Amino acid sequence: MKEIIALGGRLDQTKADLNYLCGFENTHSTQAVEGAIPIGRNSPQQPPLGLYAEQLSGTAFTAPRHLNKRTWFYRILPSVKHGTGFVEVDKGNVRTAPAFESNLPSMQLRWQPHAMPSNDECIDFLDGLATITTCGNADLQVGMASHIFVANKSMDRRYFLNSDGEMLFVPQENAIRLDTECGRLIVSPGEIAVIPKGIRFAVRLVDGPVRGYICENYGQALTLPERGPIGANCLANSRDFHYPVAAYEDILEPCELFLKSQGRMFRTELAQSPLDVVAWHGNYAPYKYNLKRFAPVGATLFDHPDPSIYTVLTSASDTPGTANVDFVIFPERWLVMEDSFRPPWYHMNVMSEFMGLIYGVYDAKPGGFVPGGMSLHNPLVAHGPDNEAFSKASTKTLEPERLSGTMAFMFETRFTQNPTRYATEECDVDYSYPDAWDGLTRKFKS
Ligand SMILES: [Fe+2]
Repeated sequence: MKEIIALGGRLDQTKADLNYLCGFENTHSTQAVEGAIPIGRNSPQQPPLGLYAEQLSGTAFTAPRHLNKRTWFYRILPSVKHGTGFVEVDKGNVRTAPAFESNLPSMQLRWQPHAMPSNDECIDFLDGLATITTCGNADLQVGMASHIFVANKSMDRRYFLNSDGEMLFVPQENAIRLDTECGRLIVSPGEIAVIPKGIRFAVRLVDGPVRGYICENYGQALTLPERGPIGANCLANSRDFHYPVAAYEDILEPCELFLKSQGRMFRTELAQSPLDVVAWHGNYAPYKYNLKRFAPVGATLFDHPDPSIYTVLTSASDTPGTANVDFVIFPERWLVMEDSFRPPWYHMNVMSEFMGLIYGVYDAKPGGFVPGGMSLHNPLVAHGPDNEAFSKASTKTLEPERLSGTMAFMFETRFTQNPTRYATEECDVDYSYPDAWDGLTRKFKS
């Protein structure tokens, strides 16, 4: 019986309407050339087509089976030909925890959208990557960083390898094309993608200049949250996670590879593209997900549930129920609660919250929090609806209401997020943000 293996192609011949492999953390098999994958063994004496066999492990060899991740590559040259001769270079605006650069007090913080690249500058993803917050310690594999990126040029013969953390991409302005060792993902605003640490990739443009957010997770790999009493369905469903079919570059031209390791940036020159994997099989690979496929579950009679109900992906910490980082969204949904204050309540959370807005209006902050902007509420920093949202929500007639055309998100972590010097000095901090609550007055009648 012949095994069916998903067929890809060369990266430069891959069409825009890509096929993807479906299923979160499934073991996938895919080849760009018929016969490239050895059948029935991982490392035969002579792999097919003159390829080199190489394993990339995403967990310790002895990790429990249900957590164990690894992928076998069948590539033109092994990675030792793509990863020597590194020299340290300026890390630009990229920071890695621990990094304490800001003297700001613990306060509510909000930023206006980061400026898109101007027409008289030409920057690619690596040029336009900047860190906004860091927390934890990358070397200890705890915590995360939030970054923003802008680019008006594809990474051309330039590649990136991050050994500090996996990278969750949240494009906000125009689609990005992630050309990786495992193949290609095209990710539009409203979709996300995750590139595990140790996978080489290049960010390329599809339809114009791009802007977006990144959560760099130093901790345990992002996975789907438990559903508890919700049952076997809803929230993010496994089959909606898409993995690339094998696709490769066979380019024999000078290339640059940048490596981020322990917060330092290194560069080396290669004689060929490192995206030379002709076939792969395994369960450690980049993936994408369309946030519109998230099936929200919420209150159907009264009260506003905790935002954890909208968790798409979670990275566990060593404390049960207390995430290293959660990726949470606030998608389109119906509000039907009776006798309830429907927006988020006023609160002080023990977790810290970095928020962004992909498109639309966020119901608790109709003014000042705009697509491409950001906010940060560190542990126990009080926040909640602004005056306008409070006034409307506490007096309006409660009828079924659809929140349409909106997609906000949150990187929520147990650690305090430290803004970088870049975030506080080079970005457009909205110091008027705390004024949003100025109009709240005493209503108490004894
Ligand atoms: Fe909050």
